[in-house]
Amino acid sequence: MLISLFLALGALLVQPLCTASPLNGPTSQTPLHVSASQPRPLVIWHGLGDSYGSPGILEFVSMVKDMHPGIFVHSVYLDKNLEEDQRATFYGNVNEQVERVSAQLANITELQGGFDAMGFSQGGQFLRAYVERSNSPPVHNLVTFGSQHMGISDIPGCRPWDLLCQAARRAAQGGVYTQYAQEHLVQAQYYRDPARLETYLASNRFLADINNEAPGAPNATYAANLATLNTLVLVLFLQDKTVVPKESSWFGSYAVPEPEPASASAAAKTIVPMRLQPLYLGDWIGLRTLDERGAVVLETCPGEHMQLSNDCWQPLARRFVGGLVDDATFVVP
Ligand SMILES: *[C@@H]1O[C@H](CO)[C@@H](O)[C@H](O)[C@H]1NC(C)=O
Ligand SMILES: *[C@@H]1O[C@H](CO)[C@@H](O)[C@H](O)[C@H]1NC(C)=O
Repeated sequence: MLISLFLALGALLVQPLCTASPLNGPTSQTPLHVSASQPRPLVIWHGLGDSYGSPGILEFVSMVKDMHPGIFVHSVYLDKNLEEDQRATFYGNVNEQVERVSAQLANITELQGGFDAMGFSQGGQFLRAYVERSNSPPVHNLVTFGSQHMGISDIPGCRPWDLLCQAARRAAQGGVYTQYAQEHLVQAQYYRDPARLETYLASNRFLADINNEAPGAPNATYAANLATLNTLVLVLFLQDKTVVPKESSWFGSYAVPEPEPASASAAAKTIVPMRLQPLYLGDWIGLRTLDERGAVVLETCPGEHMQLSNDCWQPLARRFVGGLVDDATFVVP
């Protein structure tokens, strides 16, 4: 079975998620101290064109709950209204969005002991930004599916009937590095064109910042925070034609083209893999520290972008989600 977590337009109105608490209902008159193993909670951040309560997301959450009975799952939202939440995947200031989500997560009682996190597509790099910038409460394992950690070198195409996507795409093409685009169009904020690297470094305020590539001293907090992850799992979709280049999901990018026109097209097709990236070699974001500890797991899944088959995500969710945390003590009134 396939769940499409990408472009779930026309989502039905559904109940907001995450009203359940891990312990249900009072059971006796005498206070009872219960010390029990609980699965570590999970936070998911949906992708472009999706919403926190789309049918695909709800189905995913329900399957995770079947796999890890008793798990608390929170689906990140920027607006309780599903259409507004979906719109916020195309329009908005990503730095502000990450800040709002940081406040949201800090405010949820069930998450206070830490949580695992799964990011779908752009939700993956946004969760990484959360880890680097705040990480309070802390993320244990971070799993990203088809995310654009080294950005995109092309704005993905839209389905013919997807007007919201088309409007955002046209606006981004109009000038991806303009101040307007960099503050209002989500995809422009992780657009990284190696042929115009200087322009990207000078104008990008999101990706260049969380990758610590912007001019000036790298922010040491970002590296220190990312290195606290237990495991960083990076999933690449083998037939991904939406993320250009698809290796961005593994921190790969196209090489900066040589100045000579003859070699430019050849260089543009060369992928610089994670372990040869300057940000890795200089350990600007703690990625090298993690990797040298054996804490970076590179995975592939078959299929196009976010064609999340059960065979793809379930083994990862078994391994990296829902680990038992046994120091939780609850008082049942
Ligand atoms: C924090 O939680 C309270 C109560 O649930 C809610 O009213 C408030 O809006 C939340 N704040 C944030 C930043 O999510
Ligand atoms: C580094 O990042 C932290 C966390 O976001 C922030 O509080 C701090 O101001 C940043 N430092 C610099 C020099 O920008």
